[in-house]
Amino acid sequence: MKRRGFIQVSTLGAASSILVPKTVLASSTSMAGGLYYTKESPGRWNKKVGGHLPEISVAKGKSGTTIEVKTAHGMTGYEHYIVKHIALNDKYEFINEKMFDPMKDKAAISQFSLGDYTGRIHVLSVCNKHDSWLASSEI
Ligand SMILES: [Fe+2]
Repeated sequence: MKRRGFIQVSTLGAASSILVPKTVLASSTSMAGGLYYTKESPGRWNKKVGGHLPEISVAKGKSGTTIEVKTAHGMTGYEHYIVKHIALNDKYEFINEKMFDPMKDKAAISQFSLGDYTGRIHVLSVCNKHDSWLASSEI
């Protein structure tokens, strides 16, 4: 391959690797059950849904909307625990995250202030053994 052709192919590859993941995550369910899991697509962890799927509760107040996220998972030290909750907007863009310390946090519960945000909200709950689980709610 000539140098110019190589550079064009390399540039195209780099551009597609930047653009594709966000597009695929947002528009395809084929990654559900593979890269991350949902209630409907628990993949290889189909017996682990109850302890890993994040539950989202929405509270609206004078200062805006707050969500509370709870994962009904044990926090048994660093051996097995929920590492973090990640809040994403309707475009799967990062809003905020809460890291857990299994030596201090007895439950995987987090709160996120969303201000005047409206629309769909997504939350990832990440287990150190059973990967990432996605749940969504309308605000
Ligand atoms: Fe787990």
